[in-house]
Amino acid sequence: MKLRYFSHSACQITTNSGKVILIDPFLDDNPTSPVKSNEIKRVDYIVLTHAHGDHIGDAFKIADRTEPIFICVNELANYCASNGYTAHNMHIGGAYNFDFGKIKFTIAHHGSQTPDGQYAGEPAGVLLTIEGKIIYHTGDTGLFLDMKLIGELNNIDYMLLPIGDNFTMGIDDAVKAVEFVNPKVAIPIHYSTWPPIQADPNEFKQKVDNIGKECIVMDFGAEIEI
Ligand code: NI
Ligand code: MN
Repeated sequence: MKLRYFSHSACQITTNSGKVILIDPFLDDNPTSPVKSNEIKRVDYIVLTHAHGDHIGDAFKIADRTEPIFICVNELANYCASNGYTAHNMHIGGAYNFDFGKIKFTIAHHGSQTPDGQYAGEPAGVLLTIEGKIIYHTGDTGLFLDMKLIGELNNIDYMLLPIGDNFTMGIDDAVKAVEFVNPKVAIPIHYSTWPPIQADPNEFKQKVDNIGKECIVMDFGAEIEI
């Protein structure tokens, strides 16, 4: 399967069976994404961690062309449905088997409000079990001790986690999060999109190396085989 990282929290998973899953597709107004929404040709599912504009992003615009199923916590799924889109309602702690694999939402310490000011339920992280790999996209969150439990219960292969500080964990808390979750590979996200969240991913990588863990810093727009 392939993981493409657009920048910020936005990424795309393409499974070996050809399913395309977009997560937090904030592209057109994202100054760091080399890919814009009109370049996204096929999407089967859109997973939203929460409703902030830098996560819901271009989801509806993309969905108008590609007709995906939205996967989000109940309140945000209802918001998607009320805008005319197909949604699968879930909530934190619950898992469901889709045709591409399993999704389970986790807690995240953050907020969630739609760009037009509506309450969108709790923010979330997401665990994706696809073709034998477990990917943990933490969403926007501060550091929390339950990450230890998430790591204990799931043999996580790839952990995507914010390092940009201000709205989320900064580098040092993110290193602690990697220690708690103990993934095979950590991938930093949610940094350097704007001045308040400037962070050096190589400093993060160095600090993750120092605790004996692997970190991959993905270029914005890059795709890797996972
Ligand atoms: Ni946010
Ligand atoms: Mn954010």
